[in-house]
Amino acid sequence: MYVCICHGITDKDIQEAPKQGICSMKMLRESMQVGNQCGCCQDYANQILQEAINVNSDTCRNFSCQ
Ligand code: FES
Repeated sequence: MYVCICHGITDKDIQEAPKQGICSMKMLRESMQVGNQCGCCQDYANQILQEAINVNSDTCRNFSCQ
């Protein structure tokens, strides 16, 4: 399902992000541009990201971004 229509980013893209060391909205915005156009997706994208970080907490800890 598309979360960020402006940039064509799906929930699966965001769920995979922590595996690449993307462990904050700032990093998600910088790497995928999520939320940097209309901004409508930010809250939902952040919710998905936080859930994904919890699932991948070891990976995020290794990237020292928690
Ligand atoms: S829907 Fe994500 S920036 Fe517009």
